Amino acid sequence: MRLARIGVLLSGRGSNFQALAEACEAGVLPAKIAVVVSNVEDAGGLDHARRLGLDAVAVAHRGLQRTEHERLVDETLREQDADWVCLAGYMRLLSPWFVDRWKWRIVNIHPSLLPSFPGLHVHEQVLDYGARVSGCTVHLVDGGMDTGPIVTQRAVAVEDGDDPAKLAARVLEQEHLAYPEAMRRLLTESWRVQGRRLVFGPAIDG
Ligand code: GRF
Repeated sequence: MRLARIGVLLSGRGSNFQALAEACEAGVLPAKIAVVVSNVEDAGGLDHARRLGLDAVAVAHRGLQRTEHERLVDETLREQDADWVCLAGYMRLLSPWFVDRWKWRIVNIHPSLLPSFPGLHVHEQVLDYGARVSGCTVHLVDGGMDTGPIVTQRAVAVEDGDDPAKLAARVLEQEHLAYPEAMRRLLTESWRVQGRRLVFGPAIDG
């Protein structure tokens, strides 16, 4: 059976990409990392991908319009025959054109329990608000920011002595479990999107 081919988009260190790559390598996730693409030329995640012998491509966005940049990213993904796009710390919003072209094939991980605390500076927001529970969310990408149907979530208790770095580290541990687990379910189970819900299991007629 042909393994699903995942294209990873990242902008930074890429620890979530590494978790996905390890799960593929271990056979836990029946997939192969087809290519790693970054808009940041010196992203740590690109170096790591190269060390693993994976295709790693920088597609700089500087000087390009969003759609021009996305067309190049899209070409790179298609050249490598990707079926899925996993965002792993990709710090750019995707246009409706790109989201539509990869409809329900783009997955993102966000370091909070959505819909609470979307966007940036998440752990600061959580601590400023005084939330007692945080966590992470893996979701399909729709046209909004951090708004698509949820695949899985993992909760993390907020401790009294937390600062953003401490909380981020504990959430990140859960991210590394959640992302491969969510991808495994998407690849091995049947599912559909009903309204804003992602429902696992075969569709029931009538
Ligand atoms: C993670 O916290 C992820 O949830 C968010 O960006 C961070 C990326 O970290 N979208 P890494 O580059 O995967 O280590």
